[in-house]
Amino acid sequence: MKALILVGGFGTRLRPLTLSVPKPLVEFANKPMILHQIEALKAVGVTEVVLAINYQPEVMLNFLKEFEAKLGITITCSQETEPLGTAGPLALARDKLIDKSGEPFFVLNSDVISEYPFKEMIEFHKVHGGEASIMVTKVDEPSKYGVVVMEESTGQVDKFVEKPKLFVGNKINAGIYLLNPSVLDRIELRPTSIEKEVFPKIAAEKKLFAMVLPGFWMDIGQPRDYITGLRLYLDSLRKKASPKLATGSHIVGNVLVHETAKIGEGCLIGPDVAIGPGCVVESGVRLSRCTVMRGVRIKKHACISSSIIGWHSTVGQWARVENMTILGEDVHVCDEIYSNGGVVLPHKEIKSSILKPEIVM
Ligand code: GDD
Ligand code: MG
Repeated sequence: MKALILVGGFGTRLRPLTLSVPKPLVEFANKPMILHQIEALKAVGVTEVVLAINYQPEVMLNFLKEFEAKLGITITCSQETEPLGTAGPLALARDKLIDKSGEPFFVLNSDVISEYPFKEMIEFHKVHGGEASIMVTKVDEPSKYGVVVMEESTGQVDKFVEKPKLFVGNKINAGIYLLNPSVLDRIELRPTSIEKEVFPKIAAEKKLFAMVLPGFWMDIGQPRDYITGLRLYLDSLRKKASPKLATGSHIVGNVLVHETAKIGEGCLIGPDVAIGPGCVVESGVRLSRCTVMRGVRIKKHACISSSIIGWHSTVGQWARVENMTILGEDVHVCDEIYSNGGVVLPHKEIKSSILKPEIVM
C-alpha cells in the first residue's frame, strides 16, 4: 500500500520552532511528528510514502534517509513549484500513487497526532464499498475544522463543510483519509482544496464514508494544541501501560525522559513532560506540562510549566518560565528571569523578564 503525507505550508503557527526545522520534523514526545505517522503506516503494510512538499525538500529527505533504511520503507518527495493546496498535490503525485493492484491509498495531514487506527480504517473501507473514507472526531470548537454531517449507523456522509461559520455539527475531519484511485480522476492539476472541492462532491454522490476515530486526536500545529496533544498522547501510553513512561519518586503523572538525559537531585517532574536527548536538568528543578527539546540545560531551581523549550537552549537558576512560553533554538534565559508567555526567536539572550505574552525578536 502507498500513502501521501501533505507537508506543505510554512508552519507559521508553530514559530519560532519552525524557523529551525520544517514543521513535520519538530519533535513531539521526543520523535519528529512525521515519524509517528510513518511508523504507524509501516505497521499496517504501507511500503511507500510520498511527501507532498512545497519548500525545503532537501532538509526533509536528508533527515528521512536514515529512517528509510531503518524502517524498510521507501520515502519519496513530490515537489510543487507553487502551493497546490490539499488536493492539487494528489494530482501531481498521481503516478506515484497508482499501481497495478488498484489498491486504495492513505492521505494524511502532517500535523495530526492520534493512535492512527489505520487497520480499522482499512476494514471500514472494505465494508462500505464507497470511494473514500475519512476519519472524524468530536471537538468542542468545530469552526476551525472541516465539519462532517453523517448517517450514524452507516457512516455515509451527507455533508462536508470546511470551516463553517454557522454550527453544522461537532464531528470534524481528522485529516486522515483512505481513497480509491478513482478519486484522482476528480482532481485537476492546479491549486485546489480537497475539503472544499473534492469531498463535498463525493458526499453529494453518497460515496464518502466517515468513521469515528477511536482514541485521542489533536492537530498539534499550534503551541497550545501541541501541549494539549502531549497530555493526550502520554495518557494513551499510560492506558497501554507503556514501559516508555518514566518512574521514580521525582516523577508525577506521565513523563518521558530520554535515556541520554540527566536529571539532578531533588527535582520534581510532571505531569505531561517530555525531556529530549542530551538534556541536563540540574538539581531542584520543577517541570510540568512542558516539552524540553534535545540538548537543553535547565539550571538549579528553575521552574517551567506549560511551555516549550527549543533545542540547545539554557534556562538560568531560579528562572520561572510559564504560560505558553516558547523558546526557539539556542535561546539563553539568564538567572532569576521570569517569562510569562514569551515567544522568543532563535539565538537570543533574555536578560530582563517578559511580564506579558509577547514576541521577543
Ligand atoms: N503539499 C502541500 N501543499 N501541502 C499543503 C498545502 C500545499 O499547498 N497547504 C496545506 N498543506 C498541508 C499542511 O501542511 C497540512 O499538513 C495539511 O495540508 C492541512 O493544512 P492545514 O493548514 O494544517 O489545515 P487546517 O489545520 O487549517 O485544516 C485541515 O486540517 C483539519 C484537521 O486538523 C483541514 O483538513 C480540516 O478539514 C481538518 O479538520
Ligand atoms: Mg492543521
